[in-house]
Amino acid sequence: MSASTIGTSTQVERAPVGEALPGEWWRTAVVYQVYPRSFADGNGDGIGDIAGLRGKLGYLQQLGVDALWINPWYPSPMSDGGYDVIDYRDIHPDFGTLAEAEALIEEANAAGIRIIIDVVPNHCSEANVWFQAALAAGPGSAERERFWFRRGRGEHGDIPPNNWKSIFGGDAWTRTTDADGTPGEWYLHLFAPEQPDFNWNNRDVHQEFEGVLRFWFDRGAAGIRIDSAALCVKDADLPDLPDLSADPDDTTPNPFTDLDGVHEVYRAWRRIADSYDDRVLIGEVWLPDPVRFAMYLRPDELHTCFNFDFMARPWDATEMRASIDATLEFNGPLDAPATWVLSNHDVTRPVTRYGREDTSFSFAAKRFGVPSDLELGTRRARAAALLAAALPGSLYVYQGDELGLPEAEDIPLSKLQDPMHFRSGGVDPGRDGCRIPIPWTSDSPSLGFSPDDASGEPWLPQPVQWTGISAEAQDGDPSSMLTLYRDVIAARKEQPALRGDDFEWLDLGTGVLAFRRGDSFACLLNMTTEDIALPTNSSVLLTSAPLVAGCVTADAAVWLSLAAD
Ligand code: NOJ
Repeated sequence: MSASTIGTSTQVERAPVGEALPGEWWRTAVVYQVYPRSFADGNGDGIGDIAGLRGKLGYLQQLGVDALWINPWYPSPMSDGGYDVIDYRDIHPDFGTLAEAEALIEEANAAGIRIIIDVVPNHCSEANVWFQAALAAGPGSAERERFWFRRGRGEHGDIPPNNWKSIFGGDAWTRTTDADGTPGEWYLHLFAPEQPDFNWNNRDVHQEFEGVLRFWFDRGAAGIRIDSAALCVKDADLPDLPDLSADPDDTTPNPFTDLDGVHEVYRAWRRIADSYDDRVLIGEVWLPDPVRFAMYLRPDELHTCFNFDFMARPWDATEMRASIDATLEFNGPLDAPATWVLSNHDVTRPVTRYGREDTSFSFAAKRFGVPSDLELGTRRARAAALLAAALPGSLYVYQGDELGLPEAEDIPLSKLQDPMHFRSGGVDPGRDGCRIPIPWTSDSPSLGFSPDDASGEPWLPQPVQWTGISAEAQDGDPSSMLTLYRDVIAARKEQPALRGDDFEWLDLGTGVLAFRRGDSFACLLNMTTEDIALPTNSSVLLTSAPLVAGCVTADAAVWLSLAAD
């Protein structure tokens, strides 16, 4: 087997898709998340693109990933990083062409890597033809029925139709202007005003998205990641949200989150997925109630959903164990594999989060200037990689986490782009800090993100300190995060026990997460402040930090081979 070199398109030999992970490949797959705008810039305009991604397939093969989930790559005004879609069947010119996307899918498949497309069913872009047609057609039209248009309240209709707030801050309603220039109806947007919500009570919307699924499956996509999957269906009466500050015990159901009708949508999608070979539906479902969450994983609905509960837990053995237990308890009876996610394009990078005093994640707590001990955070992120990769189910790796990139927290305000920052009135730093263009090499102006003769600068500035943690700098360094990720993914594939469901906690004391998979594999994560001796019948397969006097030190993890008793 010949290995690839960083930054080239040389590929290692690997079985094409279909042979690599036969059957239900998604149950144990390692899925690498590509934020295309920031992954690799092939044409030198400072924006990542499909050409750049095709040039990195060798790197991804060497990393050992089974599939890529690609964030939205459609034509879009980019009001929300591409989650404001103009055309679900085409490619943004900044990223390339549909023909290039098809070529990518083919090349990746030939290299044993599947492609998962991001579909955004809750909302589109205000520039989408359907929304433009709805604006032009006016009140009461069939075109407006595909969205949520309503008259405003009050004598002049200048009060929003209800009290819903946008998830990005501010009202969830924006008023339109009629053709004669007078104020008109309002439309609903749970996110930014540039992202009008579809009305999923309308058959056109169902048919449109079913066509979109087929479009990408026909082009060889192996799966669909479903954006904001629990939000699509709304209570058509659009009732006010209860005022919980007046009555915290009010249990009136939320009129736009997790309504029962959403399950019919995904049942229809599942029938489509099942009409192809080996395709997978992955839900972005943020719900606090594990029972409601698990309903999306029933056998005729989604194959898997992101496990945000695990991702958001603090660095604490009791907390993490509780999340792992709940995940396995609720997923198990449904025969739906768990997913293990440490970060994504919306949340604080693990290296930064795990180095903070409060190591949990919540959007509400994201603020500028929270200090972080990056050395400690890196140590824990390494250990977390071993933990997540040893648990039963599939593993998600967000681009740059394999390099241990920290959150970029010194982006000049003038460069910030995320609507979450702006709609919070500048209180929330936004998500740009985890979306910085990847540093591939150490010495070129864009750290190898763009070609040396690029005409454009990277769309977000890269911290100067990142020269030392580029992929090139880490390649071949036995102590680097990149080497650790490569080793972890390779070792995961070599362990038959990690392909099954078998899982049992080992009691090695308070603050130690230790479990057995099968008879001969164990993972141990030391979340205490003391050194921990290895179990006597074990030998070391992998460590996140060197052992000291044969012991696992604080915030380190180890994979063990267990001898028969
Ligand atoms: C979830 C996506 O991950 C996020 O990036 C986006 O802003 C919202 N959905 C709205 O589409």
